[in-house]
Formats: sequence, structure tokens, C-alpha cells
Amino acid sequence: KVHHTLLMTGAAGGLGTAMRDRLKANCEVLRLSDRSDFGPARAGEEVMLADLADAAAVDAMVKGVNAIVHFGGISLEGPFEPILQANILGVYNLYEAARKHGVKRVVFASSNHVTGYYKQSETITLNHPARPDSLYGVSKAFGEDLSRMYFDRYGIETACVRIGSSFAEPRDRRMLASWLSFDDLHRLVTACLTTPVLGHTAIFGISDNAVAWYDNSAARHVGYVPQDSSDPFREAVYARTPEPDVTDPAVIYQGGGFLFQGEPMTA
Ligand code: NAI
Repeated sequence: KVHHTLLMTGAAGGLGTAMRDRLKANCEVLRLSDRSDFGPARAGEEVMLADLADAAAVDAMVKGVNAIVHFGGISLEGPFEPILQANILGVYNLYEAARKHGVKRVVFASSNHVTGYYKQSETITLNHPARPDSLYGVSKAFGEDLSRMYFDRYGIETACVRIGSSFAEPRDRRMLASWLSFDDLHRLVTACLTTPVLGHTAIFGISDNAVAWYDNSAARHVGYVPQDSSDPFREAVYARTPEPDVTDPAVIYQGGGFLFQGEPMTA
């Protein structure tokens, strides 16, 4: 256990729920936070509810922790105001609190939607510029840049994990390329928390899927080795989903359906 007290935000969400028990192996005390109530603390846990947009609440949430796994925030495309509050103001509040309280390492749940306007026929590296596919993707790109500034200026190390699709199983054909199993997500977070020198880095969060759009070779120092794969699910996913229309932008671009969520765009 490298960290005494580890803070996990977004504890009421899908990934927070999946990681809650797994992350207890990484620390003595797991502090859990969300803006929504998710019930009482269990053994080895602390619960502190906080809205990420509330700087004082975020300060109290961060005080006394040794590292942060930041899952909290708006996780889909939608109206700008909630994204602004949770993902832009919220991530600023988080890093300000980390700076004030001397927290030196953060695992930030970024997203594949930071680079969603690359094509599914391209393999992109961590050195490709951002091409966000949504306001949500832009907010995650903001978090990546903000955390880089906090590294360059204050030495707070961050891994921006560009999570693909982390669900119990791949649900559709796109997820055969983007799938990240819960166990691999835990392996990835653990690698980010324990690698001796993390620095500031992005890393794509995917399992060892045969078809992939991402090249993680610039983040070998993280030491993430996926052990799961979407490949055993391929036949079943093909059987229950229609042939893709290769002229459909949701099939052309890596971001898939996120390109069309939220307000319709005019030319
Ligand atoms: P989720 O939507 O299930 O959970 C997010 C949690 O954040 C929710 O419990 C929500 O109450 C909380 N939250 C939202 N606004 C908040 C605020 N203003 N203050 C405090 N808490 C707030 O999302 P999920 O799937 O668990 O994702 C976790 C993180 O990983 C998110 O940041 C998401 O953007 C990112 N991610 C997830 C992917 C996936 O495949 N599940 C893919 C790419 C990124």
C-alpha cells in the first residue's frame, strides 16, 4: 500500500462503484466523495459528500489525503452549464486544493472524447494534438492542460487516463476497440499510483483489444500491462448488432455517437 489515505471522487457513479472495493487494496483509508449520496462508509472508508463546484467543500474533501483518483464530473455530452461547473470549475477547485494541501499525485479520468475527431482508420499516439468531439471532450482537454500546468509549476504529478469504454462487457461494435475491463482499469490506476516517476502524462485506457485506435508507447513508464481483451466478446457483439454503415460519421470517427449529442450543430 503506497498511500495511507486515497481520495476517490465520483464514488456514486459507474466506475466509482466498480472501483470502490478494488481500490481498498491500494491504501489504508479510502475516502469516497460524490455530490450524490451513496450511503454510509464501510470498513476502511470515509465518506465526504461535496459538489466539485464548491471550492470550500472541495478543499475539505482533499485535506489530509495522499493521492487522488478523480472520477467525479459530468460523464456525457450535454448542456454546457453543468459541464462548466463540474468539469472545468470543479477540476480547478480540485487542483487548487491539491496544491494547498501538498497532494503530489492525481489520476484524472480523462476521456477518449479528447481525441474523438480522429478517424477509426487512424492509430493515434499520445503526441497527437487533442481533437475533442464534444463540449464534454473539450472540458476533459481543459483538465489535461490544467493538470499539466500544475505539474510544470507546482510538481503535482498527474496521469490523464483517456478512458475508452469501461463497462462490465463491451456493449456494441465500437466498444470492441475502446473497451477497458474493470480489472484493467484497476491495474491502470494502480500503475499510475505506484510507478516511481509519473510526471505528467496522458495514457489511453483500453484493454488488450486486437482492434485498437491508440498507441500507448509514449507512456511505457507508467508500467500498465492490460490482461483482458474484448476479443472473446466479438462474435456475440457482431451477432446482436447491425452491419455498420461506413458512411455514418459515428462509424468514421473514433468518438462515435458523442459527435451528435447535445445541441444540434449548424453549418
Ligand atoms: P458517472 O456519470 O456514472 O459518474 C460520475 C459521478 O460524478 C456521478 O456519481 C455524479 O454524481 C458525480 N458528479 C457529477 N457532477 C458532480 C459535481 N458537480 N460534483 C460532484 N460530483 C459530481 O460516470 P462514470 O462512467 O463512472 O465515469 C467516471 C469518470 O470517468 C467520469 O469523469 C467520466 O467522464 C470518465 N470516463 C468514463 C468512461 C466510461 O467508460 N465509463 C469513458 C471515458 C471517461
